[in-house]
This record gives sequence, C-alpha cells and structure tokens, in this order.
Amino acid sequence: MMPVRAATLTLLLLITACSEQTDTHSTGSTLDRILGRNISPEQITRNFAPDQVARGQALFLKNCAACHGQNAEGTPDWRKPLENGRYPPPPLNGTAHAWHHSTEELKRFILNGGPPGEGRMPGWEGILKDQEIDDILIWIKSLWPEEVYQGWYTRIENRPR
Ligand code: HEC
Repeated sequence: MMPVRAATLTLLLLITACSEQTDTHSTGSTLDRILGRNISPEQITRNFAPDQVARGQALFLKNCAACHGQNAEGTPDWRKPLENGRYPPPPLNGTAHAWHHSTEELKRFILNGGPPGEGRMPGWEGILKDQEIDDILIWIKSLWPEEVYQGWYTRIENRPR
C-alpha cells in the first residue's frame, strides 16, 4: 500500500508543481517585461456589454463600412498610396495601426477626420453623438485578436508614465 500511495502523492505533487510553474510563466511574463510591473493578461479582459457591441456594429455598418469594409477589414492595398498620394481606408480590425492609438486619440480622429488637405476620412463631429462613437470603438476593439488587445491595453491605453 505505502509505495503506491507515495507514488501517487509524488505524482500529484509533480502535477501541481508543473501546472503552477506553467501558470506563473504564462502569467504576463512578456507584459511584465514590457511594463516592468506586475500585470497579468488574465486581468485584461474585455467585458464589453453585448448590446453596446451590437449598437456599435450597426452604427459602423451604416456610417463607416462603405470605406472600411463590413468587418472593418479595410482596403486590400491599404499600404499603397493612391495616385493622389493619399492612402485608402485602412483596416480597423487589429491588422493595421488603429490599435497604436488610445481611445482618446481614436475618438479625436473620428470627430475631426483625416488630416486637413491630406486625409479623405470625413469628420463626424455634429453627425455622430459621443456615445455613438464610443459604441463604434467598442465594436472595433471587440474585433481585435487577444494579443493585440492586450498589447494595446498595456502599452497604449495604460502607457506607463
Ligand atoms: C469616405 C471614406 C471613409 C469613411 C466613410 C470613414 N472612413 Fe475612416 N478612414 C478613411 C481613410 C481614407 C483613412 C486614412 C486616413 C485618411 O486618409 O484620412 C481613415 C482612417 C480611419 C481611422 C484611423 C486608422 C488608423 O490606423 O490610425 C479610424 C479610427 C477610422 N478611420 C474610423 C472610422 C469610423 C469609426 C468611421 C465611421 C464613423 C469611418 N472611419 C468612416 C476613410 C473613411
């Protein structure tokens, strides 16, 4: 009896030790390095209200999809300037640069539109309400892959100052 029990115990201890180690390892080691502080990816979850996400999607389809695509996938050649030197509408789904900007910056961009005389993105001030832009941004963020969202959340939105 004893040897079996001891073996089982050892096995259990090993399993526990292993899983603990894996957990500690995957818990934000990359983010810790980036941030120099203790924050785990598990702490960064998108608890978006489903009805806000749905409102954002409906508003996006109505106002933005004509240029940015139904799924915010942008124009296939969004990196290539057009003949007039301007750029086509980029993806907003996490595959381009939208996530390099904080919520505040994105909102300002949407309100004001592309750079005057350069951009082709219209400004939405006076057309969309603040709340509607917030809803759209929530939908856009809901599209981002987990890693992109976590990187954005830690490095951009909550940039260590
Ligand atoms: C007429 C076409 C058009 C419409 C409609 C449009 N956009 Fe854009 N958008 C662009 C273009 C083109 C750019 C690239 C910057 C520029 O040239 O002005 C852009 C850029 C952006 C960016 C910056 C992306 C980045 O990588 O920094 C955001 C965010 C954005 N649009 C959101 C929206 C939202 C939200 C709506 C709807 C409310 C919308 N756009 C409607 C054409 C459009």
